[in-house]
Amino acid sequence: MTQKIIADWKPEYAATFGANQLLLHHRLSETGLFTKEALAKLIDRYPDELYNLSTMGFDPENPVWREGTISGHKGADVIDAIERGRMWLNLRRLESVDREYEKVLNEIFEEFQSYVPEFETFRRKFGVLISSPLVQVFYHADVPGQSLWQIEGEKRVYVYPNKQPYLKPKNLESIILGETEEEIPYDRAFDDDATVYDLKAGEMVHWPLNCPHRVENKDCLNISVTTEHWTNDIRKSYAVNYANGIMRRKFGVNNLSQDINSLAVYPKAALALAWRKLNLSKSDQFVRMIDFKVDPKSDIGISDVPAFAKAA
Ligand SMILES: [Fe+2]
Repeated sequence: MTQKIIADWKPEYAATFGANQLLLHHRLSETGLFTKEALAKLIDRYPDELYNLSTMGFDPENPVWREGTISGHKGADVIDAIERGRMWLNLRRLESVDREYEKVLNEIFEEFQSYVPEFETFRRKFGVLISSPLVQVFYHADVPGQSLWQIEGEKRVYVYPNKQPYLKPKNLESIILGETEEEIPYDRAFDDDATVYDLKAGEMVHWPLNCPHRVENKDCLNISVTTEHWTNDIRKSYAVNYANGIMRRKFGVNNLSQDINSLAVYPKAALALAWRKLNLSKSDQFVRMIDFKVDPKSDIGISDVPAFAKAA
């Protein structure tokens, strides 16, 4: 893009970038990469292993959700079915599928680094979420750094502090060890301490590492973009929590420090790496089954299929 992607950056944001939540305005729509038409064409050629289609229950305190398949339908029909139904489609790793998306992803992070020089990122990922009116994404926390960019429609985003009781160390370890997906225990009382955004097209929000969040769509189709990144500090935090998770589960150790600046980070990183290499925790990994498909002829846009395991 010739213009900046962030429309309203202010120099004073740099001092607390990553430590505070930040709402900004952006120009991602001007790339033309996230229109319904562009996304329909992208879906037509999207690799099966790089998307998730989900439908979910209605109670935010009881996170029931199911995984589905787009089942070879044309992208335009899939988007129509989402607009009528109750699901969301997450196209992951856009940057690995199409160079145009990769280029924009890199522009985003280069622009942020021009504002915040120490913000050195790697393993950047780009996703797009196409979701039905009124659907929700349950309370969860993500492992890498995250931002959410609204392209079309409107959603209510609740962001919670990344500390107890909203996020218990044991639950973060479970996500990192792959024992669960990203979901963690949620209590409606947490909402009193959430920051709530009614995120509109052209707005984006960035929050501190691992902040739990949940989302409720307004009564309209939503197209949103997610960016993920890693930094050296995020990598250290991952290693410390991974090692803490092993020590807690396999060796019964409690009162574990999450400090990433102490000398203990190095043996913990070594333990995490060794454990992953030995692959000892593979049998504890969570596997989700697919049990519905997009069905353009159905009123709700989907129909059930016999459950099968999704290829990793
Ligand atoms: Fe998330």
